[in-house]
Amino acid sequence: MESYKFYICFLLFCGSNIILIPNGCLAEMCLQKLHDALFVFGDSLFDVGNNNYINTSYDNQANYAPYGENFFKYPSGRFSDGRVIPDFIAEYAKLPLIQPYLFPGNQGYIKGVNFASGGSGALVETQQGLVIDLKTQLSHFKRVIKFLRQKLEDEETKSLLARAVYLINIGPNDYFGTLTGNSNVIASKSPENFVDMVIGNLTDVVKEIHNQGGRKFGFLTLGPLGCAPVVKLLVNGSGPCREQVTAIVKLHNTALAFELQKLEKQLKGFKYSLTNLYDLGLEVMNDPSKYGFREWGVACCGSGPYRGYPSCGGKSIMKDYELCENANEYFFFDYGHPTERANELIAQFIWNGNHTITGPHNLKSLFQQ
Ligand SMILES: *[C@@H]1O[C@H](CO)[C@@H](O)[C@H](O)[C@H]1NC(C)=O
Ligand SMILES: *[C@@H]1O[C@H](CO)[C@@H](O)[C@H](O)[C@H]1NC(C)=O
Ligand SMILES: *[C@@H]1O[C@H](CO)[C@@H](O)[C@H](O)[C@H]1NC(C)=O
Ligand SMILES: *[C@@H]1O[C@H](CO)[C@@H](O)[C@H](O)[C@H]1NC(C)=O
Repeated sequence: MESYKFYICFLLFCGSNIILIPNGCLAEMCLQKLHDALFVFGDSLFDVGNNNYINTSYDNQANYAPYGENFFKYPSGRFSDGRVIPDFIAEYAKLPLIQPYLFPGNQGYIKGVNFASGGSGALVETQQGLVIDLKTQLSHFKRVIKFLRQKLEDEETKSLLARAVYLINIGPNDYFGTLTGNSNVIASKSPENFVDMVIGNLTDVVKEIHNQGGRKFGFLTLGPLGCAPVVKLLVNGSGPCREQVTAIVKLHNTALAFELQKLEKQLKGFKYSLTNLYDLGLEVMNDPSKYGFREWGVACCGSGPYRGYPSCGGKSIMKDYELCENANEYFFFDYGHPTERANELIAQFIWNGNHTITGPHNLKSLFQQ
């Protein structure tokens, strides 16, 4: 059994380098590598096609052209012209592309799986019935653990879960109240209480993943949502951002950072990475050309002011839409989702950003530990 595993591992990871590496060292390196996995939870920033398999509205899916046109050459369900953040993270971690959980093929789950669902939130009320909310994503994760326990020995499952990295992005949809149908919940709360509820539900899920054996977590703050094309289109105001929205984004981000510090003290072995997507977004917005972009505040694909109307692909009542020639010059592909180029930039900061944007760990160091 051991030698069989070793052989597989050797083929997958060690290749022609074997001669150069002392034997014991190789075995250890290979067995560790064997247990690297990436589990992904969240919304459209991370969805790689789960929503292709649920009944939902057109704007919660990206399985039609021109989504995907610049990398996959077909609309895979990713909300971008190409790859999304988890695709890049998997590449940097030398893992294969991580598949959507709902993909009907036979999956091994040994390298992880992606549970994210476009339009979802931490609250079950957010687009209820149209998305896979975070709690349901957690229950899918528990089914995967059951499956792993049937395939692997107990110690191996434990090691896999402890070595794996859990990448989570959730929140924006909870705050788009009037757009996403949970405006009743928003209206009944002060902004502070509402933020506490969102973070509380996120924290519950993190604690349960930890309880199941997860140790290494990656998070993003909310980005500068007040400056996104769809928000500028829908919320009154002038200038590059809408301050009403920015205010709640800042509340959320402060509460998230505080909560994660608390969890680090409370939960045994809990390690995390938090990437400040808000500061990173503003930095790029203030000097797009420094990062190779020509345009920050207008989307590549859509219609209306800032191309902020969700009409990319022509599935809405508005059949006409504009599509830019070179998505690489844009930060936003559609009304609220980054282009592949922007996703790559964000992923690089998640992977090996320094403490100005990502801390206390980055994902590279979490994978290495
Ligand atoms: C989706 O809707 C179709 C038609 O209304 C129905 O036949 C199908 O069972 C539904 N699928 C799911 C997963 O609910
Ligand atoms: C989670 O959200 C629900 C509403 O969906 C709320 O009633 C509950 O208090 C929240 N939990 C926490 C821990 O905040
Ligand atoms: C937004 O501006 C429009 C036009 O100036 C105005 O009719 C509308 O009442 C404003 N809405 C809000 C919520 O302030
Ligand atoms: C951190 O990274 C940023 C952006 O890559 C860079 O400008 C900055 O100098 C770095 N800071 C340190 C302390 O290395």
